[in-house]
Amino acid sequence: MLILSIESSADETGISLLEVDGDFPHAIYTIHGSALSSQMKEHNKWGGIVPSIAKREHAKYCPILLEEAFEEADLLEDHSSDLSDADKAKLQELLVREEGLADALIEFFSKYSLPKIDLIAVTNGPGLTPALWVGVSFAKALAHITGANVIPVNHMEGHILASVYDVERDDMLSDISFPAVALLISGGHTELINMSAWGTYDKVGQTRDDAVGEAFDKVARLLGLPYPGGPQISKLAADARSRELPEFASLPRPMINSGDLDFSFSGLKTAVRYAVQDKVNCQAREGALGCKELTEDQRAAVARDFEDAVTETLLKKTSTAVADSGAKTLIVGGGVSANQFIKRAFESHFLHEHPDCTVYFPTLSLATDNSIMIALAGHARANGALSPGGAEGIQADGNKSL
Ligand code: KG4
Ligand code: ZN
Repeated sequence: MLILSIESSADETGISLLEVDGDFPHAIYTIHGSALSSQMKEHNKWGGIVPSIAKREHAKYCPILLEEAFEEADLLEDHSSDLSDADKAKLQELLVREEGLADALIEFFSKYSLPKIDLIAVTNGPGLTPALWVGVSFAKALAHITGANVIPVNHMEGHILASVYDVERDDMLSDISFPAVALLISGGHTELINMSAWGTYDKVGQTRDDAVGEAFDKVARLLGLPYPGGPQISKLAADARSRELPEFASLPRPMINSGDLDFSFSGLKTAVRYAVQDKVNCQAREGALGCKELTEDQRAAVARDFEDAVTETLLKKTSTAVADSGAKTLIVGGGVSANQFIKRAFESHFLHEHPDCTVYFPTLSLATDNSIMIALAGHARANGALSPGGAEGIQADGNKSL
């Protein structure tokens, strides 16, 4: 079956075309085309995602990426779709809230026709509501023209499936054993989830304040580094480790001995701020770029000390969750799972402490938001392999009705 997938929950717009052969979880996935556009530069100066900008950029890029994905797949038919006036009016109606999108799509269909699409998978939450709506409305508009079914996808479920997608093994999902634990770490989530089977989620721990990705982004901002902060911090931290720079600050490991599986990262961010203010005579306020007085070495050392504290905390809680549930599999997903230091620390810890538990991190290109993961989850749900609504356990705050 040919699946078109759309991701627009935060600051990445993604559209992919996948041919899926077989049933979940033993299907073979062929990625025909995948187009991704990051709005990073648009949000950079604000230090985080601005919803109205995200909405505008998604609307701008949806038709551009649609063309790009179909072109890459070599599936774009070079003749007009000859839309009727009623079809054009319907597109205007479906896309009324997305400025310029209906006109752009009508123009697209005046040039091209699409082949038969079996399914359109679209993220419908969790995420920024105005951003999600662009993708959902776009999916509905495409469904109207192509006759394809639309399947709503939970973004976090997409992250879980991306982490077990094995590009080296004929593009199949890894054959995992249950029970499993999923650690989801992204810009908006930090959650530990017990999985007794595919699609069965029981949240056993979560952050009480900031998500771990958010903490990376805020500390980066404090240090005057651009958004998103995760990759910046981790580059500096690696540099500090390779040069064995001395400790800048002894940072807390928040809630590490709390006796439950919850997290808290806002205190850690504040501890970084106070440590910086203490050592250097500057007002280290977020976004104020007040830490210009820090030397490059000091900045790198702060980044490393912060990354160490985060890693130790995530590792301790996850290790406990795995021990408590007797999990045979650990799935780590979400943008922060792109962090290679965290990945190495987990792999080495689990190898020694939980040798019976197999650890999965995503292929780097699938760690941060993308639409391939939405196609994987869409296929699984359409296949009936994941029961409808089963993703509730991992939070679906998006609009549910399509
Ligand atoms: O999953 P994702 O792409 O978007 C959300 O669903 O939130 O995650 C984005 C988050 C950002 O906070 C970003 O700073 C963080 O993932 N991130 C990283 C790294 N790459 C991205 N954090 C730490 N280390 C990285 N290498
Ligand atoms: Zn994400």
